[in-house]
Amino acid sequence: MNIKHDLAAVLAEFVGLDIEKAEALLEVPPRIDMGDLAFPCFQLAKIRRKAPQAIAQDLADEAKGVTWPTWIAGIHAEGPYLNFSLDRPAFIRKAAQEILEAGDHYGAGEEGRTDGKKKTVLIEFSSPNIAKPFHVGHAFSTVIGHALYRIHDFLGYDARRLNHLGDYGTQFGKLIVAYRRWVDQEALEADPIAELTRIYVRFHREAELEPELEEQARAAFKALEQGGEEELALWKRFRDLSLESFNEVYTRLGIAFDDLNGESFYSPLIPKVVEELREKNLLQESQGAQIVDLEEKNLPPAMILKSDGTTIYASRDITAVLYRIAHYDFDKNIYVVGNTQSLHFKQVFGVVEKMGYEQAKDCVHVAFGLVKFPDGKMSTRDGEVIYLRDLLDESVAKTEAIIRRNNEGRANPMDEETIKKTAETVGLGAVVHTFVKQSRERDIMFSWEEMLDFEGDTAPYLQYTYARARSILRRSGETAAAAQAADESPQESDNEAVEAEFVLTKALADFPAAIVHARQTYEPSMITRQLGVIARAFNSFYHRVPILKAAAESRELRLDLCRAACQVLKNGLYLLGIETVERM
Ligand code: ARG
Repeated sequence: MNIKHDLAAVLAEFVGLDIEKAEALLEVPPRIDMGDLAFPCFQLAKIRRKAPQAIAQDLADEAKGVTWPTWIAGIHAEGPYLNFSLDRPAFIRKAAQEILEAGDHYGAGEEGRTDGKKKTVLIEFSSPNIAKPFHVGHAFSTVIGHALYRIHDFLGYDARRLNHLGDYGTQFGKLIVAYRRWVDQEALEADPIAELTRIYVRFHREAELEPELEEQARAAFKALEQGGEEELALWKRFRDLSLESFNEVYTRLGIAFDDLNGESFYSPLIPKVVEELREKNLLQESQGAQIVDLEEKNLPPAMILKSDGTTIYASRDITAVLYRIAHYDFDKNIYVVGNTQSLHFKQVFGVVEKMGYEQAKDCVHVAFGLVKFPDGKMSTRDGEVIYLRDLLDESVAKTEAIIRRNNEGRANPMDEETIKKTAETVGLGAVVHTFVKQSRERDIMFSWEEMLDFEGDTAPYLQYTYARARSILRRSGETAAAAQAADESPQESDNEAVEAEFVLTKALADFPAAIVHARQTYEPSMITRQLGVIARAFNSFYHRVPILKAAAESRELRLDLCRAACQVLKNGLYLLGIETVERM
């Protein structure tokens, strides 16, 4: 439920503004005794030709003749503001009911549909390079992209997941040569990426002593481009093996793709694009290379063909945009790629715009920062890149140790299988959360201590809160009888309890708006932040208000709030790509 929106709907008609405007103007007053929402009257001064204070007074009088939402308890003027206070118990009941009715769809929306038709949004993310490690930079893209996919899907868009694999380029010539000389088949089967990386590194080392290798690599790449059978078969093998290895991580994180067209897919389509650029008079020669001038956009020129006539990364990206324009009627074409490639995307979109495609304005580079590791805090296999798989394994192992420790001496300990399963879910959640915790453009400093703090701003904390609420609900069945006995005890409706219920309810009610904001700004962290607010509100409610021991009526409402909190935490974590656990 969206308090601001529902109030704005009535308020807008009352004061003669449109709903969006009224909603945007509503503020939260600085002090709780002033009310819960305030409408500033400055904007109306011109229309009503009166001072804002006087207008607020008039409105407070006129408001008596209006039917406000049932959960509005009072309206009064406060200086130049018209202030509203909520009937808290009514609001709490209404919001909880709404959440429970909507269930897994609470927060879902229709903004992705117009006239019943879904708008198509392409989300390109992950895009690792074949035969190279899937490192934490790709993980950043993978996590943000997957969250953006779920958010769009939830809001009614036709969202498509694109993985623009780095499966093309001269490095494949090197890899073919290296494979023929040095590959260890057994090692390749066991860990394809490690073995391919090993022979690739070896190629560079040996090429320093034996420069002919470079020549051979060029020849192998040329043969590959011209469709040489053996080269093509090898390339396909590298690609299949790499995908198999990437899929392990994707499956573990619950991620799938709709389209795996990588750079190799777009490469054969480049000549037609070059033709089109030439026809449109956009190609210029510069030191033998073919470029598109982008000076009017204050950008360096975009290279399309190198002096030897070969294409580059950017040519493939320009071709990919044109392909997507031709094949999808997209509302947005989103690229989740690190901010080190900002200039690249400006140039790509710039060229497409110069070619006269208005869709260039719907292409968005959703950038993110770097991932940094404090020295020595992360064990790496080769001392350089950090593999996502290793990161996940380490997180799960550390989580398992914590769970085992917490499990010791418990009355009802977890069995072995549950420990393993829980550690996997919580361990993965901790890593995923790290990437969606703060604004994506900020660099991330990795810290196990912070990530796995069950009481910090972490996935384990959110999962723990969920598990805590679930445990209350499980126990509520057993203690129903005891609650009857508690009926007489005079502990109800004290202000502190209503206040805690209200703060929690408000946090839950603000959840749908957080999803919409996350979509508008391509910032999953808006959802993460709201889940943090909800979890803290829930825990404070849990510590301050009796739930199972409350008298019947309050008990039911409070259990409903527990159910509602579980539902919202679950929906929100789902959008981020994190699962819940029943116990921790
Ligand atoms: N494969 C590239 C890398 O690992 C990322 C590709 C990003 N997407 C694109 N359309 N250029 O750096």
